[in-house]
Amino acid sequence: MYLQKRNRILRSNASIRSLVAETTLTPNDFIVPLFIEEGENKRTEIASMPNYFRMSIDNTIKEVKELYGLGIKSILLFVKAKDETKDNTGKEAWNKNGLMQESIKAIKQACPEMLVMTDVALDPYSIYGHDGIVKDGEILNDETVEALVKMSISHAAAGADFVAPSDMMDGRIGAIRKGLEENNYTNVGIMAYSAKYASCFYGPFRDALDSAPGFGDKKTYQMSYANRIEAIKESLIDVEEGADIVMVKPALSYLDIIREVKNAVQVPVSAYNISGEYAMIKAAAKMGWIDENKAILETLTSIKRAGADLIATYFAKDAVKLIS
Ligand code: PBG
Repeated sequence: MYLQKRNRILRSNASIRSLVAETTLTPNDFIVPLFIEEGENKRTEIASMPNYFRMSIDNTIKEVKELYGLGIKSILLFVKAKDETKDNTGKEAWNKNGLMQESIKAIKQACPEMLVMTDVALDPYSIYGHDGIVKDGEILNDETVEALVKMSISHAAAGADFVAPSDMMDGRIGAIRKGLEENNYTNVGIMAYSAKYASCFYGPFRDALDSAPGFGDKKTYQMSYANRIEAIKESLIDVEEGADIVMVKPALSYLDIIREVKNAVQVPVSAYNISGEYAMIKAAAKMGWIDENKAILETLTSIKRAGADLIATYFAKDAVKLIS
């Protein structure tokens, strides 16, 4: 048989395959989400996230040092607020001695090179488990934005390198940028959760922080999974308002959106490989139905191939070990 083109030549052995690989993962791709709780020497496994832990500050510091030693350069912090600190204003969120603020200070002191990013949204502090202030069953936009600005400034004051607003209120990026400028935190970046969809795959995360909405759902602020153009609109507006990095979240059901946003903006794009995506791989692997390590690498590579410059993932540590 005569063939002018033999495409399999470039697939014929491992060496040529690695030479022509279009997408490769490196430790610089990853942001590691960390869950922090009160107390000392605490390490609590999250029920729906096997082998992922919520830790007290002391153990978090050990973890951060280990991550930095593996070549990972950034972490994204979430805290589990005590029930008695929760209310409808979210005021614990900007307590300068709050768990988040103490965590930022302790981590920056122990490992100054690690880029510390912080989640900015009211849900862990809300008695209603919503990302904003609630009135008559509605999530108020403008009042919530004011709270998010105070929260962001308090994170910056504690030493955060980036704030990461994950709330999907309108106008919050511009307001946060202005707040940071006015308070002289001109070196603090904003990673905006620009296209954040109302997703069933956040379930395990809400177990980790005990932050499930007490009534209704998040569909009046998070986006509908039916929409694509809206993701571009949200991302472009956030860039205009001053976002340094935009994010698409979740990742796996939204690979098309990652690509669209990547093509539309001129800032780095991150994607969040979220808790439910982690749980699905863990569960199938536990059943012996898929090979966990292969699933991790295939999944993360697909997110990068789609256009993500950065990937927030609970698999970061596994992935770095697998690729080294
Ligand atoms: C809350 C927030 C959520 C996640 C990150 N920040 C959950 C939500 O919006 O309900 C989800 C992360 C994950 O599932 O891994 N603002």
